[in-house]
Amino acid sequence: MTPSLRRATGRSTPLSLADRLFSTGEDRRTARLIEDSIGALEARLSLETKFTGGLVDVVSRYLLEAGGKRVRPILAFLTAQLGQGVTDEVVTAATSIELTHLASLYHDDVMDDADQRRGVPSAQYVWGNSVAILTGDLLFARASALLAQLGERAIRLQADTFERLCLGQLNETIGPQDGEDEVEHYLRVLADKTGSLISASAQLGVIFGGGDPAYEEPVREFGEKVGIAFQLVDDVLDIAPNADDTGKTPGTDIRAGVATLPVLFLRREALADPAAAALLARLTPEALAASSDGGDDAIRMLREHPVTQRTVDEARRFAREATEAIGVLPEGTVKKTLARFAGTVVERTS
Ligand code: IPE
Ligand code: IPE
Ligand code: MG
Ligand code: MG
Repeated sequence: MTPSLRRATGRSTPLSLADRLFSTGEDRRTARLIEDSIGALEARLSLETKFTGGLVDVVSRYLLEAGGKRVRPILAFLTAQLGQGVTDEVVTAATSIELTHLASLYHDDVMDDADQRRGVPSAQYVWGNSVAILTGDLLFARASALLAQLGERAIRLQADTFERLCLGQLNETIGPQDGEDEVEHYLRVLADKTGSLISASAQLGVIFGGGDPAYEEPVREFGEKVGIAFQLVDDVLDIAPNADDTGKTPGTDIRAGVATLPVLFLRREALADPAAAALLARLTPEALAASSDGGDDAIRMLREHPVTQRTVDEARRFAREATEAIGVLPEGTVKKTLARFAGTVVERTS
């Protein structure tokens, strides 16, 4: 791993995303360009998380400095290679996207009552809900100000993306309406809360890298599907045995009552299978909290149940569809690396 990528990803993981994308030793030129762009991104992120100094800056830089994979900026840097490459405008757009993502993490941890993020105690765990929520708002404001430098098209794209992100989080919280299929509802939630920002990253890379406008739709669809795959894998990682790689506390979603896809599949099985129904009963937030081992055994049983493998299979299906969506792009390094990006997303452990 190169020193700058190690810095970019914060916690030292066995292989960073960039390393995995370029692990074969080929395409080194693109690898170097991406690496340089990550350096430029880190500098901009550092600049754009300065507000009034003092505790405000400490809190707003807290999760930034804790790590993160920079998945969304890396995708924008890759799609920018379809045009003239990573221009200053692409770095501005990528910084805005990463700030939006960062802000959403401050809010998400309040909503999910998560005690850990990026390997450190979550912001609201350290400073309380009000500070965490307002810090997220500050970062959202800065993300908007940055995109405003890029003109109306960028502002519009960010507004639409942010609307979808909020709708995804809101619909996850509200749950399906009467008669609505739970799995379909959930997949739409994932597309909105996660696919929206990842697809916007891919699209912004083409727009501000000066790529052919005809590439926008294929990369948008690619980002959307990769985003769903990414979030499905995140749901499985939530029930992974330890937090060393993810930097999050295992079982956070389940304990907060977020019914992720393994649980939704289990609910379907429970209609006909008493063993599945019994496991489901042990997985409610109340049952987990009341259990003598904190629910660890029930979560282990869910992890080992076929419904978890089916969730991984779903993620693989979306990653495959993402790769099909970019079939129309010209053959070459960018297309190859995007396909590898989709594969890496579903095989990730962090
Ligand atoms: C976490 O995103 C939130 C989800 C949408 C799953 P990432 O897994 O990209 O988080 P960082 O930036 O690497 O911490
Ligand atoms: C995060 O979803 C999505 C956004 C922050 C918009 P999750 O709640 O599933 O993500 P993690 O597992 O906390 O990272
Ligand atoms: Mg969460
Ligand atoms: Mg959440």
